[in-house]
Amino acid sequence: MYKRLVILTSIRVIITILWLMLRLNVLPLSADLLTTNRSSVFIGHHGQLALSSVFLDEYRDRLFLGGKDVLYSLMLGPISTEAKEIHWPPLPGNKEDCIQAGKEQTECANFVRLLQPYNRTHLLACGTGAFQPMCVFIYVGHRGEHVFTMNAGNVESGRGKVPHDPSLKFASTFSGGELYTGLTADFLGRDAVIFRSMSGRSTMRTETDQRTLHDPKFIAAHLIPDNNDRDDDKVYFFFTEKASEAGEREGAIHTRVGRVCANDVGGQRVLVNKWSTFIKVRLVCSVPGPHGIDTHFNQLEDVFLLRTKDERNPDIYAIFSTISNVFQGFAVCVYRMADIREAFNGPFAHKEGPEHQWRAYEGRVPYPRPGVCPSKITNQPGREFGSTKDFPDSVLQFARSHPLMWRSVQPAQRQPVLVKTNIPYKLKQIVVDRVEAEDGQYDVMFIGTGKCTSDCHFLFQLPTPITSMDISVKRQALYVGSPSGVAQVKLHCCETYGKACAECCLARDPYCAWDGSSCSRFVPSNKRRYRRQDVRHGNPVLQCVDQILSGEFSLDVTEDKVVYGTENNSTFLECVPRSPQATVTWLIQRDDHKEEVKLDERVMTTERGLLFHHLFKQDEGVYICRTREHGFTQILARFTLEVLQGDLVNDYRSWMPCSTYSRGGSASQIGQSRTWFKDIMQLIGPSNLPHVEEYCERMWCNDKLKRKHKGMLEKYRQAQESARKARSKSSGERNRTPRDLRGKEE
Ligand SMILES: *[C@@H]1O[C@H](CO)[C@@H](O)[C@H](O)[C@H]1NC(C)=O
Ligand SMILES: *[C@@H]1O[C@H](CO)[C@@H](O)[C@H](O)[C@H]1NC(C)=O
Ligand SMILES: *[C@@H]1O[C@H](CO)[C@@H](O)[C@H](O)[C@H]1NC(C)=O
Ligand SMILES: *[C@@H]1O[C@H](CO)[C@@H](O)[C@H](O)[C@H]1NC(C)=O
Repeated sequence: MYKRLVILTSIRVIITILWLMLRLNVLPLSADLLTTNRSSVFIGHHGQLALSSVFLDEYRDRLFLGGKDVLYSLMLGPISTEAKEIHWPPLPGNKEDCIQAGKEQTECANFVRLLQPYNRTHLLACGTGAFQPMCVFIYVGHRGEHVFTMNAGNVESGRGKVPHDPSLKFASTFSGGELYTGLTADFLGRDAVIFRSMSGRSTMRTETDQRTLHDPKFIAAHLIPDNNDRDDDKVYFFFTEKASEAGEREGAIHTRVGRVCANDVGGQRVLVNKWSTFIKVRLVCSVPGPHGIDTHFNQLEDVFLLRTKDERNPDIYAIFSTISNVFQGFAVCVYRMADIREAFNGPFAHKEGPEHQWRAYEGRVPYPRPGVCPSKITNQPGREFGSTKDFPDSVLQFARSHPLMWRSVQPAQRQPVLVKTNIPYKLKQIVVDRVEAEDGQYDVMFIGTGKCTSDCHFLFQLPTPITSMDISVKRQALYVGSPSGVAQVKLHCCETYGKACAECCLARDPYCAWDGSSCSRFVPSNKRRYRRQDVRHGNPVLQCVDQILSGEFSLDVTEDKVVYGTENNSTFLECVPRSPQATVTWLIQRDDHKEEVKLDERVMTTERGLLFHHLFKQDEGVYICRTREHGFTQILARFTLEVLQGDLVNDYRSWMPCSTYSRGGSASQIGQSRTWFKDIMQLIGPSNLPHVEEYCERMWCNDKLKRKHKGMLEKYRQAQESARKARSKSSGERNRTPRDLRGKEE
């Protein structure tokens, strides 16, 4: 299995997702599912979804959403139907109580935080209920039906199932008719606890003891079986907490995985109705730093369980961040269950007393060893431990005082698979898809980011952070949630890699392959059809040799773009290579030869294009963005840069928009026309020229004025025309005319 390239894919995917979120805000969204070819977006019926939970039901082919005082059900099948809605506000009087208790009006609503499948016909839904958590069963019908109803009379307390405060993190999983939740279960958000509830059995909880849980933030919970004996099933909780073993260091936190046996019923005299099998280990995610000191990513952000055919051994993907004030970094580490089990089977961490150091416990560990479930192994003649109630007090005492294991869990390969530092956004969500490609198996990570905070490139200006991601392998789709809505995104989009074999190949997307005529979805099959894919090397010279020989191999399929800049101002020519490994060269067309653009502090290349900090008249010309990879070159973009000169700019300044004229001349005219001029110049950016025409048409609304301006426009147009003629004569390869600023009558 290969991981290196996966990183690239994930970066590309981040961009795709961000674009979508951008569109989510930009599109005039209707109240229902908006279907475009690549994605569809749902923002609720009232525009204020405040999405707070998502349950992707692959069995029923439905997507359930919980928001502020609302629940939705969407059908995912090919026949899309109307979304069904349930209005679910707090119980009468609770909102008022909440405000009285000093909470903000905005928090005093019912934020639906939990949606779990309960049985074949019902879902369990729990909401914050204006700081009075409540749960209800929702009737969703059988597979194929689209029903969605709730009996508001059957609302029960949701205490211990979701936190009171909608902003607090928690984690839960529903299994065997029981709900396991890690959360803070009180109004003040201080009682951190792992609960089990909802069965006929009595509710189980962790002890209130900082050794067990110390200010934890729960991220995920999953039941993972150990073997074929269901009595050995364990529920794993992923969380961060204050690290008491880190000594005096203030604010030190560690990421843990803690586990309990699903059949734990607590002790008989000690730990009554409290977990007797809870133990925890530290998950480490770090990179070697200078001077031999590792940089640790201690804060857990998200966890994804990549389930495989072997249900006992999923791969665990986790996003971490640093908690340092000076350095913001993110990393993705992958853990193997075998390594986690090994740490749980290793020595317990032990501290003799306050003056002593933490070390491995070397004394005798009582039997059954704490953390072991009562099962076939413990329940043998002579050693009958059929239930945790049969465990000797010594075992329970030891479990209570030694919840932490001595060894930590290192990631697979002992290093992160992805590290990102100094980025203006946070990595927040991860899902992973295991893809079969021609040359092996790839894990493709889809990573969702938080809101971009500063110094954002326009691509990354996210209106909202990504708060949930769910993957449907069946539908080959990703469901990306943000507070304002949820988007369905196709996992692959091979069409976007262009129309040539080499482009498809260079994309190195394990989802895509060249099928002889286009870049399309790669489906592994025994029938070896004409498929070209080389995810590992992405070498088009080998992959697309017949195309190259037959001469159809032309990738100079770019359009010419015209970019206007102002003398002494800055301008940007955008060109982003499709493959992250390509090297970009900028050329300028001089008479009939091309030469490399001379770079200095005035003219710089950036990751996304060529930046002129200070534009000279001499910079005018045709700029070519060329990429090279594996000896394969491609022209990605060709720009004609026009530099508007000082005197022409000043001429512009003397034009007045008609609104200024019609109001009668005044002293403020000059100021107004300057702002207007600035507006225009801002509009004239790469690709924005058509807007300028629209803008001008609106502005020069008066025929008389238009005639008056006509001379000016004509003068400008002629200047443009002669400049273009001069250039096309010299370059001889221009095929598009720049658009001119024209009045309506022309
Ligand atoms: C959507 O995709 C299909 C085939 O994939 C294509 O035929 C159709 O024209 C596309 N529709 C739009 C609006 O792009
Ligand atoms: C599912 O649970 C609900 C709520 O307890 C119950 O009313 C319903 O009968 C159950 N359905 C099935 C199929 O067991
Ligand atoms: C220079 O360009 C920036 C935007 O790129 C614009 O805001 C500014 O007004 C321009 N200045 C002049 C003198 O054109
Ligand atoms: C641009 O700057 C140069 C010197 O830096 C100056 O001579 C020229 O007048 C400026 N042009 C404009 C339009 O401001």
